[in-house]
Amino acid sequence: EKVKSPYELLGGEHTISKLVDAFYNRVASHPDLAPIFPIDLTETTRKQKQFLTQYLGGPALYTEEHGHPMLRARHLPFEITPARAKAWLHCMHEAMDEIGLEGPLRDELYHRLILTAQHMVNSHEQND
Ligand code: HEM
Repeated sequence: EKVKSPYELLGGEHTISKLVDAFYNRVASHPDLAPIFPIDLTETTRKQKQFLTQYLGGPALYTEEHGHPMLRARHLPFEITPARAKAWLHCMHEAMDEIGLEGPLRDELYHRLILTAQHMVNSHEQND
């Protein structure tokens, strides 16, 4: 028996798609996040679905189309403060709640995302 990836265990494409849609709905209306994202989040949403698929051990959809993720470098054009990292994680937490993602796999994914989000921080404004 082949060992299943977290991607498969979480419910594959269907779950990732619901999660990322719920996430960007929140990003679009978050006062700290909306200003740095495009108005039309269609392409951002598509890329994030590809990225999270491979992040969770599913097919390498992101890399196949866009090359190495180099996530920190790709975020450098945007001012990512600790407050924005916190806001990003908050939107993700709420999206997970909304789609009913629960249990140890959720906790593991969320914990990894905390570390990744902290790694994206590239600006330390005062008053944060
Ligand atoms: C792209 C913000 C954390 C994955 C972007 C974009 C912004 C952004 C503004 C550009 C959107 C666009 O032009 O389409 C942030 C902020 C974060 C954060 C404020 C807070 C820490 C993360 C994390 C991940 C991630 C933790 C991974 C789990 C991506 C991906 C893209 C992206 C895959 C698309 C890159 C591409 O253009 O190919 N992010 N991000 N981001 N972000 Fe984040």
